[in-house]
Amino acid sequence: MSNERKLCLSGRGLTKEFGFGRTKTVAVDHVDFDFYQGEIISIVGESGSGKTTLAKMLLGLINETEGEIRFQGEKRDISSHRKKKEYWKQIQAIFQDPFASYNIFNKIDSVLLDCINMRGGRNLPKAEKVAMMTEACSFVNLKFEELTNKYPFELSGGQQQRLMIARIFLLKPQILLADEPTSMIDACSRATILDMLMQLRDEIGMTPIFITHDIGLAYYVSDTVYIMEKGKFVERGSADQVILHPQQPYTKRLINDVPKIYEEWDLSTV
Ligand SMILES: Nc1ncnc2c1ncn2[C@@H]1O[C@H](COP(=O)(O)OP(=O)(O)OP(=O)(O)O)[C@@H](O)[C@H]1O
Ligand SMILES: [Mg+2]
Repeated sequence: MSNERKLCLSGRGLTKEFGFGRTKTVAVDHVDFDFYQGEIISIVGESGSGKTTLAKMLLGLINETEGEIRFQGEKRDISSHRKKKEYWKQIQAIFQDPFASYNIFNKIDSVLLDCINMRGGRNLPKAEKVAMMTEACSFVNLKFEELTNKYPFELSGGQQQRLMIARIFLLKPQILLADEPTSMIDACSRATILDMLMQLRDEIGMTPIFITHDIGLAYYVSDTVYIMEKGKFVERGSADQVILHPQQPYTKRLINDVPKIYEEWDLSTV
């Protein structure tokens, strides 16, 4: 990592409550964090610990109950539609369910064209747009010619995942939130997907944030690991520090649930 660490996303006292009174859930409970550009971050926690809720606040899909989000060191302002659209050029997500990322009534070409338009390419000549879409598809080992006129739901699960990454390739966001991006697919394409995301990080300086309950994945991919329990970050630090020398009982328990952490992620054998 370079010496001048640039802040990309920060939270101060960030909190999200759902419901009221007796049915109130504090899904995210006063979390503080500083994510730096180019740093690979993993947020690890059990089901229900608040990971997706945090991701949705970071994306601006839901409002925070309390606290503040800072983007590139400044208080984030997404108060108007225009500002939100600007923000979404910089931060994108891929979700557990690939369908969540698409308007399913749009054919694949228009899914990809939307990305080009969002990046200000609306008036490019058609041939250039086709070249960009072809490049994006070949980056993820899909053939654009075979996809035109198809709908996302006509693709296999693995192809849908790769189409999501082709979108990211075109959108070139600063930050990519990946909420369990690889849970649907087998270990081999999982390695491929991670590899593609890492390549994007190197090529466009994207900061990937992985959200997962797989502490083995976190160890394998990340610089910095945040452990989330019941809406709070209970432990954080370098992957080695947190996973090889955990301090908190919760982290130790997560690690004990994955006894073969090293073997499982020795991808040289895949
Ligand atoms: N829209 C909502 N309304 C009410 N409660 C919600 C809502 N969304 C999430 N919650 C609650 O907030 C808590 C955190 O949920 P969240 O989806 O953020 O967990 P998660 O860590 O992403 O879990 P998983 O690993 O299963 O995806 C849970 O108790 C959940 O029931
Ligand atoms: Mg979730």
